Amino acid sequence: MNLNSQTFNSTRKPKTFNNPERFIEGWYWVIPSQNLRVGEVKPVTILGRELVIYRGKDKRVVTFDAYCPHMGAHLAEGKVEGNALRCFFHHWKFDGEGMCIDIPCLDTPLSLKLQSWPTAEKYGMIWVWTGEIPQQPLPFVPELEHKECDIAIHSHFLMNCHPHVVMINAIDAQHVNTVHKLPVEVFFERQQLNENAIIFTNTAPIKENSFFIKLIRLFYKNTITYSICYWYGTINIVTVGPDFLHVHMMFATRLHEGGKAEGQIVLMVKKRKGIFGWLSNRVVLWLTKIAGKYFLMGDIKVVQTIQFDLKTPIKADQSIMQFINHVEKQQSRMWGTWEEARSRDDESKAKRERWRDSMSND
Ligand code: FES
Ligand SMILES: [Fe+2]
Repeated sequence: MNLNSQTFNSTRKPKTFNNPERFIEGWYWVIPSQNLRVGEVKPVTILGRELVIYRGKDKRVVTFDAYCPHMGAHLAEGKVEGNALRCFFHHWKFDGEGMCIDIPCLDTPLSLKLQSWPTAEKYGMIWVWTGEIPQQPLPFVPELEHKECDIAIHSHFLMNCHPHVVMINAIDAQHVNTVHKLPVEVFFERQQLNENAIIFTNTAPIKENSFFIKLIRLFYKNTITYSICYWYGTINIVTVGPDFLHVHMMFATRLHEGGKAEGQIVLMVKKRKGIFGWLSNRVVLWLTKIAGKYFLMGDIKVVQTIQFDLKTPIKADQSIMQFINHVEKQQSRMWGTWEEARSRDDESKAKRERWRDSMSND
């Protein structure tokens, strides 16, 4: 009997995971906050949908669908006036909610509203919710919730595989040894934070018989944390470090054209008091940047060439299967139109198809 076909028959193929036409409804990064000053307006395309973003006088960022409801001019060619946006073509004006508030050749404007999208800022980035009303908060790690952070905007990247495939790298236990050559054993325990967020924490004790561990042992007292918090299947925040110093690397991705992953890396560390605290955080962020680059270099070959197909899972791949299952359970939307891929009724727990997360071949 073919064990593999028994474990993964085609009816159990994931519907959302690694699907270039779907994405999970959630908060997605747009651009770094620093790239949009007060009074600026820019075109952006996210998950196949053309949008326009601007920052009004009140500093609030607003996101609309890109084209003017009058004749289809691109609104990014327009002008920010106070907290409103005026189309460059016939000068129709829309307020921060998208309501048409002025048509120069008419005494009263028409009752028209642009499609607007919930927009927020956090960790130095602008985020858009890809539905009508946000169902969950912006991505965060529990230990950073309600805490102030020092951040560093790291690199922007484009990878030749689906964001979900980029995501699983951090919980791929085997590759820690084979690709990154770290002499540590990893075993993850998962904890569901909410419908759209899950945390994997390494629980394997670190053996102290290698030179590497002996070296870093000089810098910590008790345990070293390695945990990964996922949001919307496309953002992960890796927390690493000894008890007294946790650094957080956020890999915020989104589905790009052709099933590729476009992403932005943001480094975060809890704010420390005073000028010395600020300075030491800058050093920590700088060192994290170097370490992050090292790990990315190791992974680049994988993400640029992989044709993901987990045909032969073994126990060491369990976290990956759990992640796929977590992705499958979330509400998904269609690339480009942002229409719901399935109705919420279909999402009822009883009907949910559970993609096996515990079967393996060993
Ligand atoms: S196309 Fe925008 S006002 Fe006419
Ligand atoms: Fe890696």
